[in-house]
Amino acid sequence: MIKHLVSSGQFKDSRMLEEIFQRTDEWERWDQAGTLPKPLQDKVIACLFFEPSTRTRFSFETAALKLGAKVISSENAGQFGSSSKGETLEDTIRVVNGYADAIVMRHYIQGAARRAARVSEVPIINAGDGAGEHPTQALLDFYTMRKELGKIEGLRIALVGDLLYGRTVHSLLNLAMLYKSCQFFLISPPRLAVPQKIRAEMQARGVKFRELQDFGEILGKIDVLYMTRVQKERFASENDYNQVKDVYQVDKALLRKLNKQAIIMHPLPRITEIAPEVDHDKRAAYFRQAKNGLYLRMAILEMLVR
Ligand code: NCD
Repeated sequence: MIKHLVSSGQFKDSRMLEEIFQRTDEWERWDQAGTLPKPLQDKVIACLFFEPSTRTRFSFETAALKLGAKVISSENAGQFGSSSKGETLEDTIRVVNGYADAIVMRHYIQGAARRAARVSEVPIINAGDGAGEHPTQALLDFYTMRKELGKIEGLRIALVGDLLYGRTVHSLLNLAMLYKSCQFFLISPPRLAVPQKIRAEMQARGVKFRELQDFGEILGKIDVLYMTRVQKERFASENDYNQVKDVYQVDKALLRKLNKQAIIMHPLPRITEIAPEVDHDKRAAYFRQAKNGLYLRMAILEMLVR
């Protein structure tokens, strides 16, 4: 049983994910039929965000509200919360424990969710910790593949862009260990390659992957093109960032080379890596992906909050 959701590595077998995915399907069906049960009535969910967010915070809050819970929220806890007065993260978490039945937290420090979990009686859900992880995003990413393509087994998945700082990629690759029949193409400039620790773990667990710098040659043979934003906020200098920011861009011309059955995903926000003209292509799945986050997070809150 999972108490705190800090890392996607906590999921040890794909059957558990399949249960979450089936529940996600159910939440969507019930919502569309207007027959939502409210299992979290009288519960309070706290959203404590120390870094910007649109999708993650709103989808968690909407999920909580649709489940019948109430929400307390700080969208800028770094500036307006007591951490600006010098309070430690641990103390903030202890205090919020007195008010809420679960805490959804995003923080700029890698490892912050783990620190919070150490002192928290109520579930901590990691909604992003610096360049660390973003486990619910990875769940909704695999859920999206399953929904769009009918299966996860055997998929050929290209992850493109900032694989070094992109926490969604890290959480996704932690789940890759559960889908050994999949094949991963990791496409980045050398400067933004997957962290050594994750690469070593994939090698040790027998995950099939190849690292490349160019994505032209594989577009015709993949099922999922997962684009990412270069994580500007993690670079030491603007100059550093400028050297890699526009390396990969998907536009209409490039779409011609992409497999007809493939889907294009992105955790969003996108900057220049997907041109708006791509949005009209039926393979562009990123807005559907963002919508899936709502139902997936309903399933997660239902599972963790009691
Ligand atoms: C991602 C994040 O915050 O890590 N956004 C999201 O939650 N969908 C990706 C990003 O900011 O690039």
